[in-house]
Amino acid sequence: MTSPVRLALLGCGTVGSEVVRLLHEQSADLAARIGAPLEIAGIAVRRLGRDRGDLPVDPALFTTDALGLIKRDDVDVVVEVVGGIEPARSWLVEALRAGKSVVTANKALLAEDGASLHDAAAEGGGDLYYEASVAGAIPLLRPLRESLHGDRINRVTGIVNGTTNFILSAMDATGAGFAEALEEATELGYAEADPTADVEGFDAAAKAAILASLAFHTRVGAADVHREGITEVTAADVASAKAMGCTIKLLCIAARGADAAGRETVSVRVHPAMIPLAHPLASVGDAFNAVFVEAEAAGPLMFYGRGAGGAPTASAVLGDVVAVSRNRLAGVRSASESAYADLPVRPMGEALTRYHISLDVADRPGVLAAVAGVFARHDVSIATVRQGPAGGEAAGRGEDADLVIVTHVAPDAALAATVRELRGLDIVRSVASVLRVEGGL
Ligand code: NDP
Ligand code: HSE
Repeated sequence: MTSPVRLALLGCGTVGSEVVRLLHEQSADLAARIGAPLEIAGIAVRRLGRDRGDLPVDPALFTTDALGLIKRDDVDVVVEVVGGIEPARSWLVEALRAGKSVVTANKALLAEDGASLHDAAAEGGGDLYYEASVAGAIPLLRPLRESLHGDRINRVTGIVNGTTNFILSAMDATGAGFAEALEEATELGYAEADPTADVEGFDAAAKAAILASLAFHTRVGAADVHREGITEVTAADVASAKAMGCTIKLLCIAARGADAAGRETVSVRVHPAMIPLAHPLASVGDAFNAVFVEAEAAGPLMFYGRGAGGAPTASAVLGDVVAVSRNRLAGVRSASESAYADLPVRPMGEALTRYHISLDVADRPGVLAAVAGVFARHDVSIATVRQGPAGGEAAGRGEDADLVIVTHVAPDAALAATVRELRGLDIVRSVASVLRVEGGL
């Protein structure tokens, strides 16, 4: 048998411990697939004394000296499942420059400074794989960076954060408010003790940057992504969506477009949006992830599965380990980063969206015309208007009315300015809900 491929595992928490378990349980199959056995050279952790249960691994392999482990001559592949920007960036740059291959699940680092990693990989000649960084177990990045390289991707729309999808699905199913649904997600172990990265959209924004970079052959970083979380989505918003035959999801949307001069651009955004129940993403419930890719020749493609969890994420990590190990044995490396298109990222104000706006207005002649005038002034076309008595049909004719307006597609800045002006009108008692609408209605 060929000499083993030696792995340095950085991190042995939720994901790392499952990587160890799968490496142990599937060692014969993995060796047969690669053409050489995989061996763990060492495991870097923060706390040597931590109880790691019945992990099938020699305790002598654990170390707190990650850098020392990476620098060892007998390490071929570095698997990073620690997370965060530093020291992970320094470790991986060191490994890649030294010609080692790297497998990482670290979306935060890739979105913050993927360029340093790609440049170091090009310098050292090793592979940089990161399938687990977006949508956990779902094979998504390899299809984008390999299978679809003969096509032109126009748009990627995804639910890429399991925690927020669990919360919004619970709000939709039970009518609960955000705080109540978050509490349930925390009790069930979906949400972390500090849920900020998930509920404020940072996690999804990092994934959106990675997806956009691959889909559009352009370096897109977390700072390029417009981000809004779900903390302000109310039970009333969810009820309003339901009344329109829709549901609310936290979407990541990366799309091609053109600027005012007709030059090709991309827009990348993360925000809650209403989508019709007939949209393929509407039925993605619980903590599942799904990504809808629209390509020129292939047409629509849907990727669905578990976006988090130890074993599902370890599956993606091991798939990458097999790929980079095979490459090393064959003396080749995969295609390097493809960023040749270098498209400018359009500001959010120029992104084309639709809005669903619920207003509580005075119920008297001329109100509808005044409201419509605001839309017209901002060059926003109204698609549908629905009016009923305030408080619903049972309330009968009173002094106020509920007005629900759905717009055609318009630049986000024009829609936002419309809402701002509506809020200032004395005939508008309140703007009850403002939500973007995606996926037709
Ligand atoms: P955990 O917090 O469970 O594990 C982190 C591991 O890193 C622990 O073993 C910890 O050591 C070790 N560690 C932390 N700091 C250091 C340090 N300075 N030096 C050496 N070791 C260190 O994280 P997860 O397993 O959940 O996540 C790992 C990565 O995978 C992250 O990038 C995350 O974003 C990504 N990911 C996670 C998913 C999930 O479902 N959990 C899904 C998709 C991606 P110790 O054990 O001693 O504390
Ligand atoms: N916190 C993330 C989620 C884990 O909820 O999807 C996977 O990145």
